Amino acid sequence: MNAQTPPEGTAELQIAPIPRVSIQAFCETQPVASAINRAAMDRRMNKAHVKVNMGGANAAIEAYRESPTPNLLVLEGTGDREALLGQLEQLSEACDPTTKVVIIGPFNDIQLYRELIDMGVSEYVCAPFEVIDFIALVSKIFTPTKGKPLGRVISVVGAKGGVGASTLAHNVAWGIATAYNSPAVLVDFDIAFGTVGLNFNQDPPASIMDAVTMGERLDQTSLERIMFRCSETLNIIAAPAMLETPCDFGDTTFDTLLELLRGSAPNVILDLPHSWTGWLKSAVLSSDEVVVVASPDLANLRNAKNLLDLFKLERPNDAPPKLVMNMVGAPKRPEISVPEFAGALEIEATAAIPYVAKLFGVAANNGQMLAETEPSNKINESISDIIRSVMTKSAEPTKPTKKSLLAPLESLLARMKKAS
Ligand SMILES: Nc1ncnc2c1ncn2[C@@H]1O[C@H](COP(=O)(O)OP(=O)(O)O)[C@@H](O)[C@H]1O
Ligand SMILES: [Mg+2]
Repeated sequence: MNAQTPPEGTAELQIAPIPRVSIQAFCETQPVASAINRAAMDRRMNKAHVKVNMGGANAAIEAYRESPTPNLLVLEGTGDREALLGQLEQLSEACDPTTKVVIIGPFNDIQLYRELIDMGVSEYVCAPFEVIDFIALVSKIFTPTKGKPLGRVISVVGAKGGVGASTLAHNVAWGIATAYNSPAVLVDFDIAFGTVGLNFNQDPPASIMDAVTMGERLDQTSLERIMFRCSETLNIIAAPAMLETPCDFGDTTFDTLLELLRGSAPNVILDLPHSWTGWLKSAVLSSDEVVVVASPDLANLRNAKNLLDLFKLERPNDAPPKLVMNMVGAPKRPEISVPEFAGALEIEATAAIPYVAKLFGVAANNGQMLAETEPSNKINESISDIIRSVMTKSAEPTKPTKKSLLAPLESLLARMKKAS
C-alpha cells in the first residue's frame, strides 16, 4: 500500500471526526512517523492533539515514568515479538487504565495480534499502511457509532457569486430527501442574503443565527427547535436574511452545530455563500463532499482552480470536489467550453446544466424545486447525477424520479387498502 496516494474516492469510507483527545506515537521508522504526521494533518483529526516521537516502546517507557499517559498511545514495534511483549508489560504499570493502545508492526502476525488483543491492546496495524486507514481506525476507537446515523456533510459552493450554487444545493437536498427517501438537513449559511426560506416557500420562525447565539450551549433539543420540517425527510435551517449582524464570527462558530447535525441525519447539505471568511473555510474544508458550482467564464475558472488547489493541499486524503458547470449557453455571452474548462482543471464535470431562464425563474418565483416545476425536464437528470456523485455507492433512489404513469392508480389502491 502506498500512503502517498490519495484514495480515488472516500464515498464508502464514512469516517467520524475524532474528538478532542490526546494521541502520542512512539515510532521506530521514519515512514511510519511520517504517515502518522500526515494523518494528524487530516481534517478529521483537527481537534485531536497528536505528538509523534521516535524511539519506539523504550522511549515510551522512559517518557511515562513521570508523566501521565495520553488517551491513545501508538507504539511501533521492530518485529521482535518477545521484546515487544516485555515492553508492553513494563508500560502497563505506568499506563492509565483509560489509555487505549495501538501497536504497529512490520508483519501480519495473527498469533501476535491475538496475544495483544488479549492484553487489552485496541488494534494491531501492519506497516506500511494507508493514512486514511489509520484515521479510520483511530476514529473507530473514539467514536463508536452503534446504530446512530453518521451524517455525511455535503458542501455546495459557487466559484463566483450568482452562479446558481444555492439553487443547486436546494435541489440536491430535496432530491436526496425525496428520490432517495433519505433524511436530509439543508443549512443556509448565507446569513444575510440566503434564499432557502424563499425557495421552499417557507418562513421558519428560527434561523441559523439561533445556533450562532447559542454557541457551544447548542444541544440536540435546541437543534430540533431551530430545524424547520419541510417534509417527513427534509429539514431546513434557514438564514435570517437580515443585515443587523455582520457575519464576522470566529472560525469555530459552527463546529458544535455541524457535530450535532452529523448525529441527527444521514445527509447534511450546506448552502455556502460565495465569500471567504474563516468559518466558511473551516466548514468547507471539514465536509465529506464538496460540490463546486461554476459558470463557464474566466473568473470562474481562476477561482475554481484556486479552490481545487486549496482542497488538494488541505484535504490530501479526500477525493477532489465535484465540478458542476451551470448556466451553460447563456444567450449572447461568450464562454469557455465545458471540456476546455474542466480540462484546464484536470477533472471531469459531474454535470453541465444549461442556462434556462424560464424554468429557473418560475421555480424561484413559485418557491418550488425544478422537478416540481417541470418534472420531465432533462435538468432533473443532471441533479440526479450530482446526487449520485456525492452519495455513498450503496445508496439507491427509492422512488422513480419521473412519475410513473401508474402512480395515480397505485396511490388510489393504497388509499382504498388503508380505508378497508
Ligand atoms: N441554469 C440556470 N439557468 C438560469 N438561471 C439560473 C440557473 N441556475 C441558477 N439560476 C438563477 O440564478 C440566480 C442566482 O442563483 P443562486 O442559486 O442564488 O446563485 P448563488 O447561490 O451561486 O449566488 C437565481 O435567480 C437562479 O434562479
Ligand atoms: Mg447562494
